[in-house]
Amino acid sequence: MKLSVIGTGYVGLVTGACFAHMGNSVICVDIDEKKIENLKKGIIPIYEPGLEEIVKNNFKIKTLKFTTDIKEALKNSDITFIAVGTPQGEDGSADLQYVLAVAKDIGKYMDHPLIVVDKSTVPVGTADKVRETIKEELEKRVKSGELKEIIDFDVVSNPEFLKEGDAVSDFLKPDRVVIGADNPKSMEILKELYAPFTRNHERFIGMDVRSAELTKYAANTMLATKISFMNEMAKIAEAVGADINKVRVGIGSDSRIGYSFIYPGIGYGGSCFPKDVKALEKIALDAGVEPKIVKAVEEVNKEQRVYFLNKILNRFKDIKGKRFAIWGLSFKPETDDMREAPSITIINELIKRGAKIRAYDPQAMEMAKNFWLKDLDVEYFDNKYDTLNNSDAMILVTEWKEFRSPDFFEMKKRLKSPIIFDGRNQYNKDKLKELGFEYYQVGVK
Ligand SMILES: NC(=O)c1ccc[n+]([C@@H]2O[C@H](COP(=O)([O-])OP(=O)(O)OC[C@H]3O[C@@H](n4cnc5c(N)ncnc54)[C@H](O)[C@@H]3O)[C@@H](O)[C@H]2O)c1
Repeated sequence: MKLSVIGTGYVGLVTGACFAHMGNSVICVDIDEKKIENLKKGIIPIYEPGLEEIVKNNFKIKTLKFTTDIKEALKNSDITFIAVGTPQGEDGSADLQYVLAVAKDIGKYMDHPLIVVDKSTVPVGTADKVRETIKEELEKRVKSGELKEIIDFDVVSNPEFLKEGDAVSDFLKPDRVVIGADNPKSMEILKELYAPFTRNHERFIGMDVRSAELTKYAANTMLATKISFMNEMAKIAEAVGADINKVRVGIGSDSRIGYSFIYPGIGYGGSCFPKDVKALEKIALDAGVEPKIVKAVEEVNKEQRVYFLNKILNRFKDIKGKRFAIWGLSFKPETDDMREAPSITIINELIKRGAKIRAYDPQAMEMAKNFWLKDLDVEYFDNKYDTLNNSDAMILVTEWKEFRSPDFFEMKKRLKSPIIFDGRNQYNKDKLKELGFEYYQVGVK
């Protein structure tokens, strides 16, 4: 099929590349000229395992193209995906300005029938807004005489469930493909488009547009709820002298609960959970429903960073002039994304109190230097051990695999004092005690 994807970020680029990989002809569009120029040269703007190879291969055989010209892209596609950002607006709701700007462009430039697919995470009712915006533009063109009549189009919802860090494999082998379409013909076309991804068994879930829009928020908020629940349990465990790591295994063994998303830690971050939980709260309030659980999920998450920071502050009392080695900057492993990363809060708070920061991350240091921590005096190192030299403690913020089993003897040798604050409960406290470390983790006294 002939497709275009508008917005070439984490979701748009993966979507475009994976559809091309399955033999479709795809044009990816972005307003960021530098990004498009780089992509044409084979420079991938984000780190995502497996992405570079399929982008380069498909670009070479011309099944994947890049442009800043949306008009050209629409001319050469029958289905167009909207995959631009929907950041948190001032009142907590999703900011739809980018989605609606694209809808406007679609109405302005489409020249043949089109299925428009909302892939961005958008509040319930957005497909209606997109439809109205496109129609308004088409009506203007009819009025001006440019068009004889309104060109046929449909708007469907196709929320994306990929995880950064596993985005390519999630897209190629999805747990489910949710399509919200009120028109059976569009539903059939989308089903056909996704069929190669679900050959092993049927994973296509069709529903009405509004239910599909809400499904995405419900899924993310359910996952965030599991995290906040465990973080609250961690505080309780610590206060009553229990070990949250053992409690986790104890409850995860119940198949109704399961092991995923019940790790205690510094709390969730990233470009999705914080804004989507907040947006769901707004959706509920606007609909006259008091979202008590949703509000608590966010509150617990915010407090979790303070709770972890307090462990450091309580240990040192005065941290002015103290040096801390930070392991991990990205909001989670296997990505360079630092949006809403806990590392940003922890580093800012420590520096504000006069501490010195030495940081290492396998992928996110460029993002940190150039954007997220650009105004802060942070020293970066190419190697995790070098951050430790003469540091007063190591703080593990992101659970990258290379931090799981470090050389503790080397660490002890380099650290000024053998102290570890582990925000992801990666190590065995008895072993570290034996090795002479002072070890702090989440949910354990
Ligand atoms: N990142 C994730 O893990 C993830 C997962 C599922 C769903 N989502 C949702 O997908 C959407 C996109 O998220 P993302 O992380 O890919 O965002 P992103 O910020 O990485 O990418 C958005 C891209 O859209 C481009 N853009 C903005 N306005 C444009 C326009 N008018 N025309 C063309 N391009 C334009 C930007 O330049 C940018 O490159 C959001 O709604 C998000 O909530 C994200």
